Amino acid sequence: MKEIAENIPGYSYGAADIVQSTVSVQDLESLKISAGFTHEDERYLRLAGEVLADQTAKIVHHWRAEIIASIPNLARHSRSPEENPLPEYLAKSNLRFEQWILDTCLRPYNQDWINYQREIALRHTTSKKNQVDGVQSTPFVPLRDVIAFIAVMNETIKPYLAAKGNSPDEVHKMHLAWCKSIQIQLALWVGTYSESGHATDNW
Ligand code: HEM
Repeated sequence: MKEIAENIPGYSYGAADIVQSTVSVQDLESLKISAGFTHEDERYLRLAGEVLADQTAKIVHHWRAEIIASIPNLARHSRSPEENPLPEYLAKSNLRFEQWILDTCLRPYNQDWINYQREIALRHTTSKKNQVDGVQSTPFVPLRDVIAFIAVMNETIKPYLAAKGNSPDEVHKMHLAWCKSIQIQLALWVGTYSESGHATDNW
């Protein structure tokens, strides 16, 4: 499996301590059908993975340093309660964010993938945010902001998909597959936010 670095602090995909999700592979198959996610989308996501592989640092910089950092209501989630920068927190979670781009495109969507979706979502909630990096920051990222940010990610990923000279049709199909995957992932995350016991206050 392609990894963006040999050692990604706090990245624990497939590790024994990742709790099994109550969502089964069968449930995910149904969800894929609901999102219209087909084998063709799977193929185009693989292609997207190849296209994005050496651009993950630029993309995450774009999202976090150029967009989130300039929106105070979002920037605070990577800062201390006094709003001071936490550069190590940002650097480490940036690496995991980069790896997530590759995992989205290149990992098989099996039980390990489902379980890690739950873990990533928990790391945005009161149950687990800040713990992996041992920092003090906001206790959670509101679910509504996570869902809203999909629009930004989906819009801004497009030039990166087009950066390697693929045809407009291929770029369009990679983009469609990407958008469907993010939609599916966020559908799973809503379940995790609910399950975390903080659904109302983390909304
Ligand atoms: C579609 C929306 C989003 C996706 C797909 C996403 C994805 C991720 C991923 C993959 C990680 C690394 C998780 C890990 O392995 O630890 C992460 C962490 C994080 N994200 Fe997001 N994110 C989204 C929205 C947001 C938004 C809107 C914010 C707030 C501005 C945010 C703030 C954070 C923070 C603070 C962490 C570190 C969490 C921790 O303490 O462990 N995310 N995100």
